Parts: sequence; C-alpha cells; structure tokens
Amino acid sequence: MLQIPHLPETRKLKALAVLTSGGDAPGMNAAIRAVVRYAIAKDCAVYGVTKGYSGLLEGQIQPMEASSVANIIQRGGTILKTDRCEAFFRKAVRREAAHILQRKGIEGLVVIGGDGSFTGAHLMENETGFPTIGIPGTIDNDIAGTEDTIGFDTAVNTAVDAIDRIRDTASSHDRIFVVEVMGRSSGYIALQTGIGGGAETVLVPERKIPVSKICDTIERGIRRGKTSSIIVLAEGRTPGNAQVLAQKLEDRGYATKVCILGHTQRGGTPTAHDRMLASAMGASAVAHLMAGHSNSMIGCRDNRIQLVPFKDVIGGKKTLSTALLDLGAVLAT
Ligand code: F6P
Repeated sequence: MLQIPHLPETRKLKALAVLTSGGDAPGMNAAIRAVVRYAIAKDCAVYGVTKGYSGLLEGQIQPMEASSVANIIQRGGTILKTDRCEAFFRKAVRREAAHILQRKGIEGLVVIGGDGSFTGAHLMENETGFPTIGIPGTIDNDIAGTEDTIGFDTAVNTAVDAIDRIRDTASSHDRIFVVEVMGRSSGYIALQTGIGGGAETVLVPERKIPVSKICDTIERGIRRGKTSSIIVLAEGRTPGNAQVLAQKLEDRGYATKVCILGHTQRGGTPTAHDRMLASAMGASAVAHLMAGHSNSMIGCRDNRIQLVPFKDVIGGKKTLSTALLDLGAVLAT
C-alpha cells in the first residue's frame, strides 16, 4: 500500500504551471488532475502548458480550472499533449522559457516526464533560479531515484494481457512466439511481463543470453511435452530485434512467429495503481513547490512518496534486480 507522508506547506504560491514531456504514459492525466486540483485547493492558480517544452516556447499556456480536469482520471495519453523538444538542449532557449513563465506571473513548473525532460528542468533551474519539480511519467520505469513510474504498471498489464492471448494461438498451432516489448535500454517491462505472463524465456539488455541457450530451453520444454513457447524480448536500443531473433531460431529449424507490441503498451486506461501513484505524486509536487522545495523529483521508494534531488536522478543508472532475473529464469524452466 502506497504511503503518503504528511504534505508540507509553508508559503503561498500565486501561480504554477504543469506540462507533460517525452513519451506519453497512462496515468499522466491523473497526475495533471492532481496537480490542478491540489493547487486550486491551496488557492494557487494553475496554468496548463500544451505540447511540453515546445508549447512553452510558443507561449501555449492556458489557465486551468478544477473543471478542466473533470473526467480525465480514467483516460490514457495526456490532455496537455507532449513532445520531445530538441531546442531545449540550448541554454538560451531555456532562459527564454523561464522568462515566458515569469512574464505570466508563474512561480513554479511541474514537469511530468522522464530523464530527458528532468534534465531540461534541472538546467533551467540552475541557470535561472526558476523553481521546477519533476513527476516520473514513463512506461519504461527506467528513472533512478524511484522504484516506480507512472504508466509502468499499465504497460505491463497491457503486455501480459497480450501474452495471454498469444499463448492461446501459440498452443493451438504448436508455435514459438517472440514477443517484443518496449522499454528502450531497460528490461523492466520485459522482466515483469515475462514473469507475469509465464514466458519460457525473458531476454533483457541487462543480461544477454546466447541463442544456443534459448534453443536449449526450447528443447528442454519439448522433452517435457511442451509444444509451444513464448519468448519475451526487450526492444533495447534498436526496436525490431524480434525479427532478428526469430530468423536465428528459424535457421536452427524452429518455426517462429513474431509479435511486436509497440505503442499498444503506451495507450489505454491506466490501472488503479497508476492512478493512485499519479494522484499522490501530483499533490506532493505542488505541496513541495509551496514549501519552497524544487530542483527535485517526486519519487517512490519502499512504497513511500518522497522528494529526490534532480542531481541524484538525472543520468543515474537503475539496475534490474538480479534476484528477479533469477526468479524469472527458475520459473520459466
Ligand atoms: O520511453 C517510452 C518509449 O515508449 C520507449 O519504451 C520506446 O523505446 C520509445 O518511447 C518510443 O518512442 P516514440 O514513441 O517516439 O517512437
């Protein structure tokens, strides 16, 4: 059960802004809703920035009311839209962004996104003093300083549901399926999906397994009477690897099908877990800005919502639990 510490509150903030940045993730809307409603409850005006940092630079900044976020907690995607903004890598551009916010009387910015989005916020605050707070929103769960990110649970549930369906057809046709899931260079989605979906093999960037070993696992299964197999493969840096692996298995005489789940994992109704996490993190972000805390991310460690300085987050490596990797391997045999 998520532990929410008593939220700090020591000063009045006239107005803050919220934006979503990077890849969308289910639950971002629940986070926007929490930011808007918590701020309004504390007499702080809220502005919504459309299309991430790009929209901010274009001045796409609109006041939001409690009613602006009605009926969105259950919706995937982000009502504020999102973007990956290359221009924000430039110092002059970040300085201009801070000026745009200040000219509107905005005193703090909540950024819902991933590591790249936090880097932009962190640099902008260091260079201009403009207060920023990050909320981790990405299906990849690859952000240091937090055990959980908004959208991860939903993406895993979507992928497990897909595997259940694929298993029906795999066992009807006695086939091997390679199912490719997202996650970029992180294997979190693959590992949890593999364990939750009962995959025969899970392949993640953090632990390489040679094709010969995958074939050994298939053969062991066949000897025990298994007629079908599911191999869950993390996309890694170059999506489409499932095709490469399937070809290698075909070359060794195994008829193999490929299913790349792709962006289906990014959409859909957020799970109750993601809605809860997003609600708690959204409120906490506002409370910390009001308490004068910034240049930090709202993280979740040992199931507790807490503030983690950006400097301990950005570029940090989050390692996949070897115990979980071992468990996945044992249960798959
Ligand atoms: O970071 C989230 C993510 O969905 C990754 O898992 C994936 O590699 C990437 O974004 C895809 O990005 P895009 O939607 O820009 O193709």
